[in-house]
Amino acid sequence: MNAWLIQFNAKLNLMKKLFRIVVWTGLAVLLLIFGFFTLVQITWDNAIDAPYPDIRATSDPAVIARGEYLVYGPSHCAVCHVSMDRMLDVDNGLKLPLTGGFEEVIPGFGIIRAPNLTPDEETGIGRLTDGEIARSLRHMVSSDGRPLFPFMEFQEMSDEDLTAIISYLRSLEPVRNQVKPTEYTFMGKALLAFGLFKAKGPDVTPPVSITPDTTIAYGRYLAHDVANCRSCHTSMDNQGNPTGPDFSGGFVFHPTEWSQGYTFVSPNITPHETSGIMAHWTEEVFINRFRAGRAYERSHMPWGSYSRMSDDDLKAIYRYLQSLDPVDNKVARTVYFPGEHPGQ
Ligand code: HEC
Ligand code: HEC
Repeated sequence: MNAWLIQFNAKLNLMKKLFRIVVWTGLAVLLLIFGFFTLVQITWDNAIDAPYPDIRATSDPAVIARGEYLVYGPSHCAVCHVSMDRMLDVDNGLKLPLTGGFEEVIPGFGIIRAPNLTPDEETGIGRLTDGEIARSLRHMVSSDGRPLFPFMEFQEMSDEDLTAIISYLRSLEPVRNQVKPTEYTFMGKALLAFGLFKAKGPDVTPPVSITPDTTIAYGRYLAHDVANCRSCHTSMDNQGNPTGPDFSGGFVFHPTEWSQGYTFVSPNITPHETSGIMAHWTEEVFINRFRAGRAYERSHMPWGSYSRMSDDDLKAIYRYLQSLDPVDNKVARTVYFPGEHPGQ
């Protein structure tokens, strides 16, 4: 063999080796990707665990009446658990059956849909136990064991109020209406599969009962756990974790089809002299503002539901908000017209 051939053979061997390495690495990468996809597809809907609260519905008319007040008033469940085109009618006071339908597209995550809350056996809550319904609200775990998207921040609502709400739902006429289930994108499923999207349980043990009055303590309960003022008036990430001080505003509601292209930003409602919009409002101004309802048709704030809150509830919320530490966070504007964006 001449020297040239020996050199050629050595080169060929090296090439073959390199080729094998490339092929095997490629196969390994493909296998990993395939494994990842399969793992996500198989495990994303594994049920997660959370305790079932010991809540039992009753047919006591006073309890049911309290539930109805919460559902159409401060807790505004009704506004989301109807079809998209009826949300404003319900907010304005029409008591439509809670047949579900509100949906929101969360970019990259999925389409989240609010289910039918009437006691229909097949399509509503008829097939669910009181404990399952209570767990959805307290631990944000759906009846089929998924972490619910943080639209409902009622984790620390009292046992008594949860009982009232579930008793009211049980008292409704069943209406058959199949709402399409929540759908996730692959990315959403991957977050669920790897436990990166978690269910949000209560931070402290919720009270068994809390008597309505006009105190700061009751106002705090309403603003945090019943009327959800806190969750919209605090800047939060996609999983409902605060990224700024409570009630200092700045949560951006990006334009959606429902908002007709408008962007809203929640104002700072702490009593800061210059950047808190309510710092100079008297209790009377506050109550009158709530009785007046929405200024912007497509604002996400359920103004109509809140306009039906009792004077005492509004007083309690006002007193609580005025008792907060002032936070200096200037929210330049709360409304941006279609085509405009915050920061422009
Ligand atoms: C801002 C809109 C909104 C409000 C307000 C709201 N919900 Fe929901 N609800 C939803 C959405 C959306 C889902 C589905 C979430 C998901 O699939 O991740 C849901 C899910 C549920 C479920 C889960 C059902 C199951 O099969 O596990 C129950 C029960 C429920 N809501 C009851 C209520 C009650 C009671 C209230 C008032 C105290 C309420 N909701 C207020 C939007 C809302
Ligand atoms: C779903 C989100 C959401 C919830 C829940 C919510 N807000 Fe708002 N709030 C907003 C947005 C967005 C604006 C700005 C647009 C507007 O004025 O409607 C706003 C505006 C306000 C204003 C200014 C009104 C004005 O005329 O200047 C006050 C005061 C206020 N909210 C207080 C509250 C209180 C108190 C609660 C609880 C009882 C609450 N909000 C619950 C989103 C919300």
